[in-house]
Amino acid sequence: MPQDAEALVVPVFQGEDGLDLPESEFFDGATVRAALDMLGATGAAEEVTKVPASTGPIVAVGVGKRDDMDAEKLRRAAGVAARSLTGLKVVATTLGELGLAAAVEGIALGAYTYRGLKTADVPEDQQPVKKVVFLGKDQALFDAAVITAEAVAFARDLVNAPSSHLFPESYAAIATSAAEDNGLTVEVLDDAALAEQGFGGIVAVGQGSTRGPRLVRISYAPEQLDDAPTVALVGKGITFDTGGVSIKPAANMDQMISDMGGSAAVLATIIAAARLKLNVKVTATIPMAENMPGGNSYRPGDVITHYGGTTSEILNTDAEGRLILADAIARASEDNPDYLIETATLTGAQMVALGLRTAGVMGSDAFRDRVAETGRSVGEQAWAMPIPEEMSTAMSSPVADLRNADPSRWGGMLSAGYYLGNFVGEGIEWVHIDIAGPSFNTGGAHGYTPARATGAPVRTLIAVLEGIAGE
Ligand code: BES
Ligand code: ZN
Ligand code: ZN
Repeated sequence: MPQDAEALVVPVFQGEDGLDLPESEFFDGATVRAALDMLGATGAAEEVTKVPASTGPIVAVGVGKRDDMDAEKLRRAAGVAARSLTGLKVVATTLGELGLAAAVEGIALGAYTYRGLKTADVPEDQQPVKKVVFLGKDQALFDAAVITAEAVAFARDLVNAPSSHLFPESYAAIATSAAEDNGLTVEVLDDAALAEQGFGGIVAVGQGSTRGPRLVRISYAPEQLDDAPTVALVGKGITFDTGGVSIKPAANMDQMISDMGGSAAVLATIIAAARLKLNVKVTATIPMAENMPGGNSYRPGDVITHYGGTTSEILNTDAEGRLILADAIARASEDNPDYLIETATLTGAQMVALGLRTAGVMGSDAFRDRVAETGRSVGEQAWAMPIPEEMSTAMSSPVADLRNADPSRWGGMLSAGYYLGNFVGEGIEWVHIDIAGPSFNTGGAHGYTPARATGAPVRTLIAVLEGIAGE
């Protein structure tokens, strides 16, 4: 154990006949095993047992049965361990011996905390662990896992930020400095430029607020860019969603500070792509607006003209995300990328269909399936959903090319996916990831997921880009 470490975190499995302690050169197995047996440790998934020792406590975290272990089980166990390490400054761990990337992600994401604007200091014994030393680690793998974890934490910080502090102008400024700090090119369109260039969806949604909308465009190109594949990322950036004139009920409206979760994931991902030097050309198109009722709000019955010319009849001003995304997708399509990946806290119907933790994935058949599978492979639950042909009737309007909402109760996640598909350019492989539930945890902490912002689907997006870069 390194000199300054105050504790050692080790994984334990649930064996056929009791505890199964993986061997390691970093501690004396026989002694630790005897102590764990005495304390009744079983190795069950996410069980934490602390063994006092002269060199500082040994914290054993259960990973479940050895044969059932996968990266996600390890990530969750590491997250639970990290949450139990409050009050410690330096801790060493052998968790990385079972899978370095998952262990690092689990520890870093489990130790994440958001203090917001609390003015009192956190008592020493409740502070999250400051430093975790991964014994025997491979530096390159470790660095990549840290970049991923930092991207998730950045997205969480943005989503957790209240709308008093995060609104389109301030959000665009934060996005600009974060992107520029990482060598990326940024362009910001303000409300005047958006109106001038015909971004009718972003302008309509933003016009009810005194805090005008923005469109942020960020580009990353790898050094040898000759034949790198091209990906457009698009994310919903509603910094607060009151519903507008079609106003939402008061209960839980505070949670609508998280309605920019898709954009936060996209911003964090393009920065991670640059830091990881992925061999893929990425452009992020991020529409930002605050959806408010006001004297200048757009109204039900209005017809708006999107970037590119398609018109939408507004039936419900609370179906605002698709309106700003329509403009952004049309703009992103102009660059003719190979792939277009868009993510949004788009519908309550996503949670009705799939629950709070599983994202709904729609789009081009093969790419949709690939993205959903990739999500599951990194422990971000995701499921492919269809866009049935009858959605075209559900979303047709007597006075415009489309209407923005289907008044029926059925398939609300799917009709939203259908609507967005109308703005994707010909021949572009596209996917829409509805993260209404998964991006914001309204329950308690579990595994490496804290309450409130989760950072989903950042790890999915990074993994999809890594896959495309490796093609
Ligand atoms: N931002 C909401 C979706 C949402 C709801 C996200 C709850 C997270 C938690 C979105 O803008 C919205 O209000 N959608 C409407 C669409 C409807 C009017 C067609 C919805 O889902 O009710
Ligand atoms: Zn809404
Ligand atoms: Zn919304």
